[in-house]
Amino acid sequence: MKNIILTGFMGAGKTTAGAALGGKLQLPVYDTDHLIENEHGLTIREIFQSHGEQLFREMETQLLGRLPSEPAVITTGGGIVMRAENRELLKRAGTVFFLSCPFDEIYERLKEDSTRPLLYEKTKEEIRQLYESRIPFYRDGSIEIDTSGKTPEEVADCIISSL
Ligand code: S3P
Repeated sequence: MKNIILTGFMGAGKTTAGAALGGKLQLPVYDTDHLIENEHGLTIREIFQSHGEQLFREMETQLLGRLPSEPAVITTGGGIVMRAENRELLKRAGTVFFLSCPFDEIYERLKEDSTRPLLYEKTKEEIRQLYESRIPFYRDGSIEIDTSGKTPEEVADCIISSL
């Protein structure tokens, strides 16, 4: 079995669906943000604050070059698909799923969030623009799973039936 990679915008439910999927398939679950945080001993917020977004993007690319080769569920940071190089690395690393969700549903989940640096001081419209600009990159080479109104278990089941 190949790695199962989950992509999608912040708040799309990658972490919860990934955990459900790992449980159902008895596979380990790795999250690119957590791997970066552990490796550098800093939170994503601190990395953005002290090193800036560009260096964080570099850390993402470097990490993708050495993902575990065992079959695993890998959940990813919402911006990882922005670099063409990363999309290629993701495709090489496993089967890529895009967890899609309408913007308004995502926004409801994100509006109280204080942990994601890209949301700081952004209006709803600015976040919508970011969301819309990324959709083509999520769709590139992936299997799209519509998560709207689904529980993490239901999303995991949809992924399993598309494998
Ligand atoms: C980001 C999404 C975050 C995290 C970082 C940047 C993005 O991950 O990687 O804050 O650019 O969309 P989640 O999608 O898990 O929130």
